[in-house]
Amino acid sequence: MRLVIMPDPTSATQLAASAVMSLLSSRDRPVLGLATGRTMEGVYRDLCKSHDRDEIDFSKTTTFNLDEYVGLSSSDPESYRHYMQDHLFDHVNIAPDATHLPDGTAENLDAECASYEAAIARSGGIDLQLLGIGETGHIGFNEPPSAFDTRTRCVTLTPTTRQQNAAMFGGDPAKVPEHALTMGVGTILEARQLLLLALGDGKAAIVARALEGEVGPEISASAIRLHARCTVILDEASASLLSPETLESAKIHRGS
Ligand code: F6R
Repeated sequence: MRLVIMPDPTSATQLAASAVMSLLSSRDRPVLGLATGRTMEGVYRDLCKSHDRDEIDFSKTTTFNLDEYVGLSSSDPESYRHYMQDHLFDHVNIAPDATHLPDGTAENLDAECASYEAAIARSGGIDLQLLGIGETGHIGFNEPPSAFDTRTRCVTLTPTTRQQNAAMFGGDPAKVPEHALTMGVGTILEARQLLLLALGDGKAAIVARALEGEVGPEISASAIRLHARCTVILDEASASLLSPETLESAKIHRGS
């Protein structure tokens, strides 16, 4: 695992966006795994700006998002499909049929999950998977406990996660759907490269647990430590509870 600590959220976000840009310029047909949430908003903003400056071309890119709420249609402003259209897809030259999210309104959710896995396999697999980390230590919506061989499936969101995401639902956790479809930990680990971004002191405790605690299903983000090509980008605030030993192994960029 490569750990990079940047002085602030802006520089950490820019570094994550530049990793996406490198992938897109180095592959003929890049396959990008995407995440939603507040952490990723700046990454997509940076990618849109680069696209406006003609520095990045999405025309041959295929994307697969990690997750989607069950019961929300693509037109629902709180759906992750809507988030992706709003923050990225509507602003760049990506082919609409090359963007994939699990369909949380499918009649048969198990069949939808199986067909999502099949679509990822047909694409040749994900080159680079972006990840955030939730307060429960989840990646995607892999709530504790999530075995490391889990595949795309329907999960029940924990009260902590529904509280974490309540702001997008008028501040009311009861309005956050109880269920979601998510890539499994096993699905995520199959990506050729992982990039986890965490920002802010609110993430410091869970980042320390994920990077220094036991590797196991109670913190699905700990699974990334088993991946051969994984980069973790933190700002100083989210890195603030890491031990001196971990910091010693990190590449630290100090602010001026
Ligand atoms: C979203 C996702 C989640 C988020 C995580 C952090 O697609 O898969 O794992 O990355 O909950 O969310 P934020 O960035 O809002 O703190």
